[in-house]
Amino acid sequence: PSDALRNDRGELSIGGMSVTELAQKHGTPLYVISESDFRARAAAFRDSFAQAFAPEAEVDVYYAGKAFLSTHVAAWAAEEGLCVDTASGGELAIALAGGVPPSRIGLHGNNKSDAEITRALEAGVGRIIADSLDEIERISRIATALGVIAPVMLRLTPGVHASTHEYIATAHEDQKFGLSLTPVPGFQAEDANPYLGSPAWTAVERALASEGVELKGLHCHIGSQIFEPTGFELAATKLIAFLERIQAGLGVTLAELDLGGGHGIAYTEADAPRHPQQIAQALAATVKAACAEHGLAVPRISIEPGRAIAGPAGITLYTAGVQKDVVVEGDLTRRYIAVDGGMGDNARPVLYDADYSAVLASRRVTGEHTLSRIVGKHCESGDIVVRNVYLPSAVAAGDILAVPATGAYCHSLASNYNYLTRPAVVAVKDGTSQVLIRRETEDQMLSRDTGFNPA
Ligand code: LLP
Repeated sequence: PSDALRNDRGELSIGGMSVTELAQKHGTPLYVISESDFRARAAAFRDSFAQAFAPEAEVDVYYAGKAFLSTHVAAWAAEEGLCVDTASGGELAIALAGGVPPSRIGLHGNNKSDAEITRALEAGVGRIIADSLDEIERISRIATALGVIAPVMLRLTPGVHASTHEYIATAHEDQKFGLSLTPVPGFQAEDANPYLGSPAWTAVERALASEGVELKGLHCHIGSQIFEPTGFELAATKLIAFLERIQAGLGVTLAELDLGGGHGIAYTEADAPRHPQQIAQALAATVKAACAEHGLAVPRISIEPGRAIAGPAGITLYTAGVQKDVVVEGDLTRRYIAVDGGMGDNARPVLYDADYSAVLASRRVTGEHTLSRIVGKHCESGDIVVRNVYLPSAVAAGDILAVPATGAYCHSLASNYNYLTRPAVVAVKDGTSQVLIRRETEDQMLSRDTGFNPA
């Protein structure tokens, strides 16, 4: 976080709280999130995109709650003028409990239950992003029964998959999400309308014809941890061409275009993502040019960043425990430093081979550093927190280690493997800390076990 610094005792401090105080007060492992940093990143997306698309179009920034959601965090996002994107009934419940106005919430999911759709419509969410033809019918049926009009976006797969530096454009869509722009096999597309017979085109026709459904616009999400604007630009260009075909063929102008999330962050020094402003400016120039070329007004734009807002705002504190030195090869040794958490609180290294860095946070030590690997305490050899990092050779049991950039997809992907309790999440700001999510207790774990009879 931008408010992390070394205090005069040499301890790392975040939001004016030293890691030693935080660990004493809340225990470790501990997720710490800087409220100011989270808010600043939310505001940077809001302002960069608003400025880049002005005056032609307004932009809604939906904070993707799957990255990390709690009622407080939902409220911070709303207070910064953001909307909230939810991916399940559970995330929807948290956003609502956080006081986010329902009209500023979107509901995603590739297999929403009738109960989730009902709950969203009863709450009055601003949009449901339909993922399939089947779902359009179910939304229509439920909305009609409830006597409401469902605001619907369609999730399309424009054939662009982006990740970090590269994007891959594919003709066919071999993935579970969304409606493809490619005609189904055996269908003879016409020159005038290359989309005829595609699930996306069929979905637009059905949504327009469905009772209880108001088709608001189109959505796509092209990937994760994207550093460059190119993939977003290509996807936007494809969807704008599709919008023109809808206008020409069906006489309908769809008002909104959601370009999804996936904006990347730096996990280690090797990562150099673009600032939101650079992404926004490149994307806005392309969208404006494409709309002008197709004779369309620029639609209202939305984006769904999650990681880029929550990720860098959070760090995890661990207490170092057992160590051993292992000969890797020749003279090269690696020090294994085990900490009191691991893959239960950060599944990303084991799931995605993700790289992190770490620092000795409870004191400043100058002098020799040792190639180290931070590992967890779970029964699994893949339980690695930081694969390779040079840490002071003086690191000893009881020291606090901090792993940055853990604000996104760490708490939200946390598990109870080996019945370790999930850590607390605390927010820091102006020298105070506030528990956002309590540490899980053994009693809570036991209470799910029907064989446990409390005295
Ligand atoms: N919108 C949609 C429709 C999404 O599917 C996602 C992420 C987002 C927005 C937010 O993406 P972000 O800006 O946070 O990258 N667990 C993985 C990431 C999975 C992302 C799934 N969808 C990880 O830890 O890297």
